[in-house]
Amino acid sequence: MSNTILITGSNGQLGTVLRTSLQQKYGKEKVVASDLRPPSNYDGIFETLDATNQEDLVKIIRQYEIKEIYHLAAILSARGEQDPLASWNVNMTSFLDVLEASRLNGVEKVFFPSSIAVFGESAALENTPNNSFLDPLTAYGISKAAGETWANYYFHKYGLDVRSLRYPGVIGYQSIPGGGTTDYAVEIYHSAVKKEAFTCFLKEDTTLPMIFMEDAIRATIELMEAPKEKIKIRTSYNLAGTSFSPAEVAASIREVYPDFVVHYVPDHRQDIAAKWPNSIDDSAARNDWGWQAEYDLKKMTATMIEKLS
Ligand code: NAD
Ligand code: SER
Repeated sequence: MSNTILITGSNGQLGTVLRTSLQQKYGKEKVVASDLRPPSNYDGIFETLDATNQEDLVKIIRQYEIKEIYHLAAILSARGEQDPLASWNVNMTSFLDVLEASRLNGVEKVFFPSSIAVFGESAALENTPNNSFLDPLTAYGISKAAGETWANYYFHKYGLDVRSLRYPGVIGYQSIPGGGTTDYAVEIYHSAVKKEAFTCFLKEDTTLPMIFMEDAIRATIELMEAPKEKIKIRTSYNLAGTSFSPAEVAASIREVYPDFVVHYVPDHRQDIAAKWPNSIDDSAARNDWGWQAEYDLKKMTATMIEKLS
């Protein structure tokens, strides 16, 4: 078996969709999905792997002759703040394991998912530029900003082809998010189709950058397939889909369910969201490798409601 792809953290919100998309594109026998525990329903090769265990990681790389790694394993922003050092440990140890194991064992390409969480008080809130100064205010954001710098280092020092995107909040019907600040934007649709009121943990006017799952997965695969010379940014590319507040997504849902009710009860996640951008400038991704989002809020709402119903 050769030219095989490994996904870490593949049972999560993005991984459950990415693993199937990669199987469809490259064949079931070319994708090795992994996570801390076996998934409940997945038709494909799966290995139980704690990505902070470098020995186990190396065994899998050698066994399957892995050539590409999509390193999704992480503790997300809100959950990370419950134990900042543990979140740093998982996020950083696992990524350094992946980078080091890759360069020493013939892995050619690595994908690192960064986040809008890398931005802090120094970055402009509107159309946040790719090259903003990064002073993140969560342990998660610090781990992503450091990860981007390590990605750049491994590319320049060892020639390892590491590519990265700063995802906005990802919204999809296929999976449930885990421990993020943008999770409300998925949960709200689940409540709406069940005809239940929704309690939102962010204030109604908190605008954040978001992206539909189909766009996020397509961006990931397009970035990984782009010719090497087109990848000019080796820290991470800003990626934009659309931006909205809880009030705006609620209004778009009310076009289908006019009686939909939302209660706003902001909690600790509001403090995280308040420091993140409202919108993102992704012109570098568009210019360098042709990125173009397809889903705006209207199309996202229509698809979420249709699929969840
Ligand atoms: P998720 O929380 O849904 O899934 C993460 C997965 O990682 C889980 O299945 C978990 O079991 C696994 N994991 C945790 N610790 C692990 C370890 N030590 N070893 C192996 N697996 C481990 O996250 P997601 O939403 O699928 O995000 C995937 C990646 O994309 C993450 O790196 C995340 O930071 C990034 N990202 C996600 C979003 C988003 O909105 N979902 C936005 C920006 C960036
Ligand atoms: N959606 C992610 C979070 O809220 C951003 O990286 O943590």
